Parts: sequence; structure tokens; C-alpha cells
Amino acid sequence: MIQCPRGTRDFLPDELEKRRAYEAVLRDVARRFGFREIETPIFEEAELFILRSGPNVMKELYAFKDKGDRDIALRPEMTAPVVRAFVNGMSNDPKPIKVFYFGQCFRYERPQSGRYREFFQFGAEIIGSATPETDAEAIAMAAFMIKELGLKNYKVRIGHIGVLRQKIADIGVPKDRTAEVLQKLDKKLYDEAEPILRDIGVSDGDIKSLFELTETVGGVEVLDKVPGDAGTYLGEVIDYLKRMGVDDVEIDLGVVRGLDYYTGMVFEAEAPVLGAEKQICGGGSYTLSELFGGEKVFSTGFAIGFDRILLAMEKEGISYERKGIDAYVVPVSEDVRKDASAIVAKLRESGLAADVDLMGRKMSKALKYASGICARYAVIVGNDELSDGSVTVRDMTTGEQAKVSIEDMASKIKG
Ligand code: HAM
Repeated sequence: MIQCPRGTRDFLPDELEKRRAYEAVLRDVARRFGFREIETPIFEEAELFILRSGPNVMKELYAFKDKGDRDIALRPEMTAPVVRAFVNGMSNDPKPIKVFYFGQCFRYERPQSGRYREFFQFGAEIIGSATPETDAEAIAMAAFMIKELGLKNYKVRIGHIGVLRQKIADIGVPKDRTAEVLQKLDKKLYDEAEPILRDIGVSDGDIKSLFELTETVGGVEVLDKVPGDAGTYLGEVIDYLKRMGVDDVEIDLGVVRGLDYYTGMVFEAEAPVLGAEKQICGGGSYTLSELFGGEKVFSTGFAIGFDRILLAMEKEGISYERKGIDAYVVPVSEDVRKDASAIVAKLRESGLAADVDLMGRKMSKALKYASGICARYAVIVGNDELSDGSVTVRDMTTGEQAKVSIEDMASKIKG
């Protein structure tokens, strides 16, 4: 039997209905925050991701040559494609440009719970503005999305990659080795970062103070310990967030992010219930446009790991109730099957979701099937009722039945 490729999943109707419902919740929040949707190709020139994605993404890139010998990659994320699209077609539009997107991304990772080779991101970018207010807007929308989905237990941590980059430069790490060091710090692999830093010639004292910096965690009180202007900047971000009703965030200079394009504020949200793969959202401010042939434009964005947040919701016991259909039409006997077809057509015409028995089931089995597909009503079509232009409408929850004229049947079901 052929299975779907490792790290990918089929979404069967029960699962997909739930996913679509939660996707709609996120779309609605994006709309309320003034974002408009954008869609880019699922594959791109590989170079787009190689330019500034960092060693983590590079290792995981699904890259291949197409028949025209072009280097192509399946998108591992959507920020670079969106910025490319901005440079190609939106760079003259009034700023800021606020766009959101939803779609699949591909990373060649070792699959496990919450980590797939094909996964879905719901993300947003604010292109053309670099202020604490803009950063707060992005963080607030991410937090609002998580709340609207109903997830209870999560944490938002805000850091500043500029501070870490500066520190790394100050202690003598050359530019071409910065990504390697950041990658280890991102994964909190201090044991692996230490020999790299030693090899570069960084002193023990400097290594210690770098590690200490990444352990600056807490409320606004720790901002005093943040070197340079970043402390004031993050203080402003936190202030804006408070005004917007988001006050459950934490400062954490250990937020490094796995991607290489961030320049300033960075943030992550995690759901502890997920264990190892607990990061449900990541983002920050960055510049990418200058790499793709445009002017340098500061931007801020984030992406929610859609699969992961749904997994966290499931683990918290948030259940989804299948919507079902309005009516299931059951012909009582063979000779009224065509009348049943006409009746289901009428119901559909009136805007109701209606289905009709196609399997020739006996009444009790047909009713069982109707309740299995969560039909609110069964519409029973028999010769007796038809003779005076009626059907029997059965409420599937209460079991109550009533004879209703075909004329009134749709409004009775809608009622
Ligand atoms: P990222 O942190 O690499 O950021 O990915 C965003 C989210 O996608 C993660 O927090 C995680 O929930 C989810 N995710 C990542 N890899 C997988 C996987 N293999 N399986 C399941 N879920 C996964 C970005 O991609 C940036 N483009 C976010 C951004 C937008 N920054 C600025 N704008």
C-alpha cells in the first residue's frame, strides 16, 4: 500500500473541517487588525532562501533542480517570499503594508509529534515601519490569535537579537561565524557553543558574560540590564502592549530565533503542554528587501505554527463539534426515490445543506446514518405524504416528527 511521504499527513474530512474552522478564526483576527491576504508560490528559486535563512533552514531545505536545470526549493517559510513579492510588485504602495498568509511550508526535519516535513503557518508581515508601536502591533495580533483560539496555557517571550549580535561582535566573533554561534544559543546548546567560541579565541570571561546575557529573563525590571538603547526600545514595546491589553509577556534575551534575517526585537510564544516542540509562534523585526534587489525596508512579522497550536489546543481538551448538515432526505420506498431527489434539490435551492440517501437503506439504517453525519433533521419522503404535497420532518435531536407541506419544509428546518 502506498502511504503519504514521511513527515506529511492527509487531512480527512473530520480533521479538515476543524482546521478550516480555526483557520477562519485566525483570518478574522487578521481582518480586525487591518491585514489583507497575500499568496505566493509554494516553490521559489532556491537562492531566495539561501541568501539569509541561516544554517538551520539551509540544512532542512527541500531543494532540487527542475527540468530546466534551475535550482528550486519548496518554501521552508513565507517571510522571504512575501518580501520578494513586495519588492516585485508592492514597493511603491503606501506604507505600512500589512499582509497575512496561510499555507504549507516544507522542512526536511526528523518527524515527531508537532514536527512535520510539510506543516502549515499562519503568518503576517508589517512591511515598511520600524517602531516599537509596529513591533507591539505584531506581538499583540499574535497574542490575540492565540487567545481567540482558546488556548489557555502559553507564554510570550520577547528578546532583542540586535543586543546579542552586538555582544557577539564585541567579544571578537567574526561576522562569518556569528550565525553558527547564534544557532547554538537558539537551541540553548551552551556546551556546543563554548568550544566554538574558544576556537575563535573568545576569553572565558567573555563567554560567561555572553551566556549570562542570554539568561536575562523577567519583567520590565530586567530591562536595566539590557545594554545600549535596546532596553528603552523594549520598554516602549511593552508599554504599547500594555495599552493594547497584552500584559502577560516576559522579557527574555535568550530568544534567538532560528532564522538569520532578524535585526531587532524578536519574540516567541510557547505552549508548555507540547513538551519538546513547544514553540507555537515566532517572529520579530528584520530587513530582507535589500537582498532581493529592493531598497532596505524595515519590517516586522510572525508566523504561528498552525499544526502545533491545534495540537496544544487538543492537549488542553478544547474539543471541536462537527457542524454536520441541515437535512437528510430518506425515501421510504423505491418508487419515491425520484421525488426524494426533487425534494433535496428544493432544500439546497433554499440555501440549506441537504443530502439524500443514495444507498437504498431501510428507514432505521438511514436514520442511523443521518445521525452519524450530524444531520439536524431527517426529511422522510413517502407516498402517503406526497399525495397531499407533504413530507415528514424529523428533529434528529428530540426524535419529534411532524407532517409539513413541501412548501413550508425549508422554513421549518431553517426556523
Ligand atoms: P519559525 O519560527 O521558523 O519562523 O516558524 C514559525 C512557526 O512554525 C514555529 O514557531 C513553529 O510553531 C512552526 N514550525 C516550524 N517548523 C515546523 C515543523 N517542522 N513542523 C511543524 N511546525 C513547525 C518563521 O518561519 C518566520 N518566517 C516567522 C516570521 C514571520 N518572522 C517574521 N515574520
